[in-house]
Amino acid sequence: MNTENKATEPDKPVKSSLLRNWLSLGGLIISTGSIFAFLLLFALDAMNPSSNPYVGVLAYLVAPTFLILGVSLVIGGALYQRWRYKRFKPTTARSLISIDLSKPQERRNLLILITVSTTFLLLTAIGSYQTYHFTESVTFCGQACHTPMKPQFVTYQHSPHARVSCSECHIGRGATWYVKSKISGLYQVYATYADEFPRPITTPISNLRPAQQTCEQCHWPQKFVGNLDRTYTHYLADETNTEYTVRMLLKVGGGDPTQGPVSGIHWHMSVANKVEYMATDPAHQVIPWVRMTDPQGVVTEYTTPDFDGEVRSDLVRTMDCMDCHNRPSHVFKTPNEAVDLALSLGRLDSSIPYLKRDAVALLTQPYSTEEAALQGIATGLHEKHANLPNLKSTIAEVQRLYSENFFPEMGADWRAYPDNIGHKDWLGCFRCHDGEHKSKNGLAVIKSDNCSQCHTILAQGNKDTLAQLNLQEPEFAHPEEGWQGFLCNDCHTGSND
Ligand code: HEC
Ligand code: HEC
Ligand code: HEC
Ligand code: HEC
Ligand code: HEC
Ligand code: HEC
Repeated sequence: MNTENKATEPDKPVKSSLLRNWLSLGGLIISTGSIFAFLLLFALDAMNPSSNPYVGVLAYLVAPTFLILGVSLVIGGALYQRWRYKRFKPTTARSLISIDLSKPQERRNLLILITVSTTFLLLTAIGSYQTYHFTESVTFCGQACHTPMKPQFVTYQHSPHARVSCSECHIGRGATWYVKSKISGLYQVYATYADEFPRPITTPISNLRPAQQTCEQCHWPQKFVGNLDRTYTHYLADETNTEYTVRMLLKVGGGDPTQGPVSGIHWHMSVANKVEYMATDPAHQVIPWVRMTDPQGVVTEYTTPDFDGEVRSDLVRTMDCMDCHNRPSHVFKTPNEAVDLALSLGRLDSSIPYLKRDAVALLTQPYSTEEAALQGIATGLHEKHANLPNLKSTIAEVQRLYSENFFPEMGADWRAYPDNIGHKDWLGCFRCHDGEHKSKNGLAVIKSDNCSQCHTILAQGNKDTLAQLNLQEPEFAHPEEGWQGFLCNDCHTGSND
């Protein structure tokens, strides 16, 4: 651009020249670029509001940030210019930009200006579009800040939701949550760089978007599920790794009277009935107060003997999918479950004496790093099973179980993340269904006495007994005596059982 070619009238008002400086010019270019990027992203967002929650972040946070930067530069430049005028009181104002199309030199300059601006705007457009795609990707959420997100990312990849992007559960659709999540996201970026994130990352997430706006976009909550046939395969910690399996019908049912009987486990889904509760610990494991509102509007409050009488409205939550399905995606298997699954699939050889016991013990050891753990597992199995022909593959399999479910650098494993769906290793359903939750007059109790309220055992034991379905509903045949009168998770912790 021509910088010094033209002297204007000596007493030209100072104001008209204020923007004629490089700082303001740069600011103008940045502002134009960001307005352009904003318009583009806004159009993308408006045309396809359901597509990608991260467009919002770019359109409503990143682009405006650049706009503010640009405008600040323009103003800064102008102020500087004014200061210079005051200070040096020039008799001739210098013009930064002037275009006289009759001069070939100036025509060329104009052409260069147009080319450069067009390229800049094009690059901005491509850049914004690419960034938009990147931020919606699982790579961005799961791998961009590698250490803190590794446990959730790895477990997610082995979950039923491995094809659902992080943002579909964590952000959902629409601009408000997008911006909300991005504001907390900015703090997370800071925390990652400042190395201030908690280890393990705390659960539950305090500002997780309600299930109605995430899970229920894909899972029709009114749908009547009926009974689900599930088989839980286990092995005992004895010499022969005795198989011990329970096959049962889970009475999932449904919660919408127009779709099927309102009954079973999905009765709580807050379609016909509404269940609210107050947990007094951050992980929602201790629930001294529950309120149920039935379709007729009858309200029943259940409390435990420990309840101190104070209902804190900020802690009251309406039960939704996440109160039971809190690990739909980040499944940290217990060592017991992980080894049982590997044995049942034949990935670990159940004819190796005491393999169940030893593998669980090795997985449960405290290790400081993943590397130390893999080493420890190899050494441990070498010591105990030195003469095995398939020792190498056994070690590799136990190491794989470790890497998929244990993250010592982040302190993340099944111990840090309760799973609320059942009741064996965690309280789960028994947080409320423990027989301790009673109405004031003591007449209404949240049901707990009847095992077949939630499921019907079809068969249990080893392969042979499993083949005989028993529709007479057998009593639960626990492998050891003396389990009655306790909660399952008084003894079962996911490891030493
Ligand atoms: C199917 C839905 C779903 C998907 C997909 C999903 N999450 Fe989650 N995520 C959840 C739920 C539910 C929780 C637990 C929330 C609670 O209990 O408050 C959670 C919790 C978390 C937590 C807190 C720690 C924890 O485990 O409770 C982090 C961090 C996290 N998710 C990151 C991710 C990342 C990164 C991805 C993508 C690689 C992802 N999530 C994909 C549903 C999902
Ligand atoms: C983007 C769509 C989508 C979202 C959002 C979503 N899911 Fe899913 N969910 C799926 C798909 C797909 C499957 C796998 C279905 C299959 O293969 O059986 C699935 C499977 C499941 C299953 C069965 C898992 C199993 O063990 O077989 C449960 C339970 C479930 N989802 C709960 C949830 C919960 C709770 C949330 C919210 C935190 C959620 N989903 C959010 C699409 C979604
Ligand atoms: C009271 C606890 C509870 C609540 C609340 C709940 N579920 Fe379930 N749900 C279960 C249990 C238990 C099963 C049986 C499967 C299992 O044990 O993994 C199940 C099964 C399912 C299945 C079938 C899985 C399959 O393998 O076919 C889906 C899908 C599902 N739930 C989605 C949801 C959604 C979506 C919501 C919220 C609208 C929800 N659930 C609320 C406890 C609950
Ligand atoms: C926050 C407390 C709470 C939790 C957690 C909870 N429930 Fe319930 N549940 C209730 C209340 C309240 C009722 C209604 C009183 C009753 O019928 O006992 C109920 C009723 C039921 C019923 C009877 C529905 C009917 O047909 O009348 C079933 C089945 C059930 N729950 C299963 C489960 C399962 C399975 C889980 C764990 C995955 C679970 N509940 C977790 C509070 C809870
Ligand atoms: C409030 C509902 C409820 C009650 C009451 C209940 N269960 Fe369960 N139970 C469940 C659910 C839900 C699961 C499935 C957990 C899962 O999918 O991981 C389950 C799983 C199980 C399992 C398989 C666990 C595993 O991982 O192998 C056994 C065994 C079992 N229950 C026994 C019992 C016995 C015995 C009683 C009575 C003392 C009982 N249950 C009472 C809801 C209940
Ligand atoms: C008094 C302690 C105690 C209580 C209470 C208890 N168990 Fe057990 N359980 C054991 C012991 C000990 C074993 C045998 C462990 C082994 O040899 O691997 C066992 C084994 C099992 C197994 C097979 C092994 C495995 O891999 O898990 C299942 C399934 C089981 N229990 C379910 C339950 C359920 C469900 C409940 C609650 C209804 C329950 N237990 C209550 C102590 C207990």
